[in-house]
Amino acid sequence: MTPEQIKLVQQSFAKVAAISEQAAALFYDRLFAVAPAVKAMFPADMTEQRKKLMATLAIVVNGLDNLESILPAASALAKRHVNYGATPDHYPVVGGALLWTLEKGLGEAWTTETAAAWTAAYDTLSGYMISEAYGSPQAAE
Ligand code: HEM
Repeated sequence: MTPEQIKLVQQSFAKVAAISEQAAALFYDRLFAVAPAVKAMFPADMTEQRKKLMATLAIVVNGLDNLESILPAASALAKRHVNYGATPDHYPVVGGALLWTLEKGLGEAWTTETAAAWTAAYDTLSGYMISEAYGSPQAAE
């Protein structure tokens, strides 16, 4: 990610964080609409889950310009997700729901550049999480 992309992600997330509860609700509604099978993996009461998701996203977004600071927590998060039943295939689905939510939440502020910056951010994070939790060809060598 370029420094400009990091700034775009941080500035746009600040706007979504202002409507954190609604954004999280929108995200899970979207996720469960596109991937109904994953709903059963989550608790029935999603109140805490919504807060945890937004708090974790805030930490990741704020840590983008100092990646080493967030990698240990991202690795641990990824490994906990194996126990939740998450598989590598789920990550692009979650990423799609996240980008969709950001697009809805940001309206006109969702520009081509912002979309590309978020795609790069999610690809970086999810690629790292997948390799930490499930291994990668490189890691196996
Ligand atoms: C970058 C991507 C993701 C982030 C930042 C994220 C974040 C979180 C956080 C913060 C929690 C709260 C519990 C904890 O900290 O361990 C959580 C729980 C959970 N996540 Fe994720 N997650 C991601 C990807 C996924 C994917 C791909 C799936 C697959 C469907 C998934 C399914 C779940 C489930 C089922 C729980 C609830 C576990 C429970 O309370 O029983 N997550 N996630």
